[in-house]
Amino acid sequence: MDCRRMLCVLLCMIYMLHVTGLWWAMGRHLVLDPGRICRKTRRLRGKQNLICTKEPEVVTAIGEGSRMGILECQHQFRFRRWNCTTAKRSLKKVLTRDTRETGFVNAITSAGIIFSITQACSYGQLLDCTCERNAPPAALTAAPIQDTAAEGRWEWGGCSDNINFGYRKSKEFMDDRFRRRSDLKTLLLTHNYEAGRLAVKRYMKVVYKCHGMSGSCAVKSTWRKLPLFREVGNFLKEKFDGAAKVMPGNDGQGFIPEGATIKPPDREDIVYTEESPSYCEPDKKTGSLGTQGRHCNHTSIGVDGCELLCCGRGYEAVRRTSRINCNCRFQYCCEVQCETCDKRQTYSRCL
Ligand SMILES: *[C@@H]1O[C@H](CO)[C@@H](O)[C@H](O)[C@H]1NC(C)=O
Ligand SMILES: *[C@@H]1O[C@H](CO)[C@@H](O)[C@H](O)[C@H]1NC(C)=O
Repeated sequence: MDCRRMLCVLLCMIYMLHVTGLWWAMGRHLVLDPGRICRKTRRLRGKQNLICTKEPEVVTAIGEGSRMGILECQHQFRFRRWNCTTAKRSLKKVLTRDTRETGFVNAITSAGIIFSITQACSYGQLLDCTCERNAPPAALTAAPIQDTAAEGRWEWGGCSDNINFGYRKSKEFMDDRFRRRSDLKTLLLTHNYEAGRLAVKRYMKVVYKCHGMSGSCAVKSTWRKLPLFREVGNFLKEKFDGAAKVMPGNDGQGFIPEGATIKPPDREDIVYTEESPSYCEPDKKTGSLGTQGRHCNHTSIGVDGCELLCCGRGYEAVRRTSRINCNCRFQYCCEVQCETCDKRQTYSRCL
């Protein structure tokens, strides 16, 4: 494809590179003024173009969703050597590879986007979508209802978060442009996008409200509700820890697990093809920033412990003094008076 023919270089890049980082880079612009960007997308084709020109509210939700994704990534990775930093020289590189980190970032971004579109629908921000009034599929409802249906009658009612709309719309926007491609990198990317969407679906909640005389629960109306995004993040982090290494299939189609005894990854699993670097030292090629100067916990033996985080280079104790309010007293009447004290803190820092 010829980039120069595109009106907007930024959108051309999105179209050509499947790097999720660009969603993030775009996030702020989209939220501020989705219309402005969308006016420039006439050259984009297919579903993406349709959404961009006809549904700017969806584009806004996509921008917000990708930001949610990155914030969650930074939370989940806060103690890791690669901490999901958005520094361009790091994130961009990480996303052009196919390591576990790449897989996680793509999955959590996709999860953020389905989440945010679904939420925007419930808030009434999207024109062609309303809450879902039909009973959800049995698979989703079986467990919670059996658990609590000791008494009363169940009725589906109220307004369910429309996860099916979110699913359809986010898939259209993110996957459609790869429809005709089946190279390994694209397969990995769309697989991990799907894993992210399914993670949100899996954690949908069934909630209920009681109706009946004086607080009895003669009738319970139930609906489906989005989970906390943190739950989705925790789940995808587990999937990151157990991610499946794959390689191209023998027939040139798809991918298969690396190692004949390993069970093939299912749709919810994060997949990758490339081993991660150690991220110990700065390396332009991999996007590693190194861990020098990172705070670590010298009593922990986990990933946040100084031994692992500092890669055996050792660490130093840093003393820091900050001024805080202290000895606060309530004065009659009515104010609180405090003194300021020095609070001394020590933390450890990687050499
Ligand atoms: C992430 O790591 C980089 C260097 O590796 C560091 O500069 C940055 O402060 C870290 N971010 C957080 C939130 O800890
Ligand atoms: C450091 O690690 C120890 C042991 O895992 C834990 O109990 C403690 O809360 C950690 N400290 C901080 C500041 O995270």
